[in-house]
Amino acid sequence: MRVLSGIQPTGRFHWGNYFGAIKQYIELQHDHEGYYFIADLHALTTVRDAEVLRGYVRDAALDLLALGLDPAKATLFVQSDIPEVSELCWLLMTGTPLGLLERCHAYKDKKEKGIKADAGLFTYPVLMAADILAYDANWVPVGEDQVQHIEVCRDLARSFNAHYGEVFTMPEARIVADAAKVPGTDGEKMSKSYNNTLGLFEPAKDLRKKIMRISTDSRPMEDPKDPETDHLFQLYRLFATPEQTEEVREIYLRGGFGYGDIKKRLADAADAYLDPARARRAELEGNPDRVDQILREGAERARARARAVLDRAQRACGLSR
Ligand code: ADP
Ligand code: TRP
Repeated sequence: MRVLSGIQPTGRFHWGNYFGAIKQYIELQHDHEGYYFIADLHALTTVRDAEVLRGYVRDAALDLLALGLDPAKATLFVQSDIPEVSELCWLLMTGTPLGLLERCHAYKDKKEKGIKADAGLFTYPVLMAADILAYDANWVPVGEDQVQHIEVCRDLARSFNAHYGEVFTMPEARIVADAAKVPGTDGEKMSKSYNNTLGLFEPAKDLRKKIMRISTDSRPMEDPKDPETDHLFQLYRLFATPEQTEEVREIYLRGGFGYGDIKKRLADAADAYLDPARARRAELEGNPDRVDQILREGAERARARARAVLDRAQRACGLSR
């Protein structure tokens, strides 16, 4: 299967992004042909500072490679390096009913809150459809929040194919299994909009400080506590081995423990888990040419494929003579 997914460089990646998305995308590279890209064109709808955007794109590439994306197995590239996608987006746009986009939540939510939206945000799902169709992708692993956009992509592919003949491969959303919501330091869903994130590559010392400040309830130490409803435990189990998780579960059920001890265990487990990725990242940071080369080669491979699909689409709708 050809697997494709994109991630927006709109900030530094946090634990929620990793456990809810990136980790599963990367695992698919072992058994499938993976295409993964950094969606800088999409990020332009929110990041409007050139230096900041360039920095986020660079960080996203370093992070993904450090986390295990293997350029020998999968194709990693930057969205805007493939101009064919923007051309394909226009072809799709001419067949996109406005009503379809009006129902999409990214736009609808903003509109309902009275926030001004631009055409970029409104047509965002069409660009996403072009991203997917340009590479004949079969599977698109995404979080729950993106499923609606995959439906739009399928609608657009279906109507284009019905009108012009079989041009596009029909993609399928692969909803990331057990992407339970990763809680933030306050117990709400971790999100950069809530200022409750724990960064994947924050310096270990800062991370430890943040972990020590994770909110906890004020029940007496002696009371047994239900681990399943405790966000500190939810975070711990992401990093811990099954044996460690069991041990801490029993501590919760028994009671008589301090949250400080659990936080320390969480910080230790996170360090043990993240240290290899931190080391790989430091190495890549010292070798920017290598990272550029990976992105360049990724873009070449992706572009060849997108060119073939765009040719097919252009021929079908009468653009090529
Ligand atoms: P944020 O909410 O911080 O702005 P994004 O919307 O950029 O994060 O998230 C990118 C992807 O990471 C999402 O599509 C989603 O699948 C995943 N994700 C983000 N936050 C979480 C979370 N707290 N738990 C699980 N998955 C998450
Ligand atoms: N919109 C996706 C997100 O915010 C990122 C994205 C852009 C994407 N194009 C894509 C994901 C194509 C999957 C396929 O998370």
